[in-house]
Amino acid sequence: MFKVNTNFQKLPGSYLFSTIGKKVAAYSAEHPDSDIIRLGIGDVTQPIAPAIIEALHRSVDEMGNASTFRGYAPDLGYDFLRNAIADSDYKSRGCDISADEVFVSDGAKSDSADIQELFAADSVIAVCDPVYPVYVDSNVMAGRCGIWDANLEKWSDIIYMPTTAENHFVPEFPSKTPDVIYLCLPNNPTGTTLTKLQLQEWVDYANKNGALIIFDAAYEAYISEADVPHSIYECEGARTCAIEIRSFSKNAGFTGVRLGFTIVPKDLIFDGVSLHSMWARRHGTKFNGAPYIIQRAGEAVYSDAGRAQLKEQVGYYMNNAKTIYTGLQEAGFEVYGGVNAPYIWLKTPNNMTSWEFFDYLLNNAQVVGTPGSGFGPSGEHYFRLTAFGTYENSVRALDRIKKL
Ligand SMILES: Cc1ncc(COP(=O)(O)O)c(C=O)c1O
Repeated sequence: MFKVNTNFQKLPGSYLFSTIGKKVAAYSAEHPDSDIIRLGIGDVTQPIAPAIIEALHRSVDEMGNASTFRGYAPDLGYDFLRNAIADSDYKSRGCDISADEVFVSDGAKSDSADIQELFAADSVIAVCDPVYPVYVDSNVMAGRCGIWDANLEKWSDIIYMPTTAENHFVPEFPSKTPDVIYLCLPNNPTGTTLTKLQLQEWVDYANKNGALIIFDAAYEAYISEADVPHSIYECEGARTCAIEIRSFSKNAGFTGVRLGFTIVPKDLIFDGVSLHSMWARRHGTKFNGAPYIIQRAGEAVYSDAGRAQLKEQVGYYMNNAKTIYTGLQEAGFEVYGGVNAPYIWLKTPNNMTSWEFFDYLLNNAQVVGTPGSGFGPSGEHYFRLTAFGTYENSVRALDRIKKL
């Protein structure tokens, strides 16, 4: 008889964005003329840059011609894209990563959820708290996290590493040694990051303890400070302990286009087994390659024109981030993030819970953000605003918040 994977039933359900949606819909129904500004979801709003649109058009035309038509893509990615990534994102920064260590995919969400297929069933994972929920949920689905404690809002077998204002958003080494450590830097949701020296300490810790780091660098393009690493491979020894996941969603607006990649260095050998070989085997079995058209679009991200246009686009969002950050500071809020990431993380005023502040902001300023508690228990009393809206809406939202 068929039996379901009961691990799915253990999941408490991701109510965050559906609850936000319901609350906003209810408010709109009661106040049909209200002008709601949405600074909640981390989706981009600017159109795809012209250099990328041109590459898309060109490759679409190639598909309509028998001599240039392409069928299945190589499952690990076309060489033109893997070379562009290795040269531009790694070698140019002094990172020793070769093109055949780049695995092209359809985005960082699937890679960050699927990577746990490489871990033993009894691996102990450690996550920062608050955290991008995919890391935990994908491990729960695989039966790796124990029992959900609804009071603590924690899984019994996961190591949570609080990152809050108290520790300056720098996770501390856990008392129990994990097998796998997820680090997302610059961070979603807090918008904070680590310096190269601080990241180096995590690399040293992982190497010393035989742990694997899964480094999610989806927001790398937003780094503005010199001492913040763009890749974990800027740290010495990372080739023997770290996998890095990247996305084209936030640097190039590909949230609806879909493209990402994962770096699995050949030096990652555990129990005599190469993770590079395992991931190649896994990719070959379960993935038939990102579309040719989209990989050409990805290649255009690294062209001179693409780079210049995307620098401007990222600059546009970071100007929003500055507007929101400084506006909140002027309004007397305690504010974090926003300098190396498009997320602004604020402490709720008057000890309000994250959801109380959500309601307060919606009712009094018609501004929608994301309650920090939705990202983990240490996110309670915090709130996330994103810089991915338009400049005009960022200014209008802050004008309203300042008047509260
Ligand atoms: C930390 C982090 N990783 C990965 C993703 C997903 O990226 P992609 O669109 O490439 O799937 C997101 C999206 O919000 C994210 O915040």
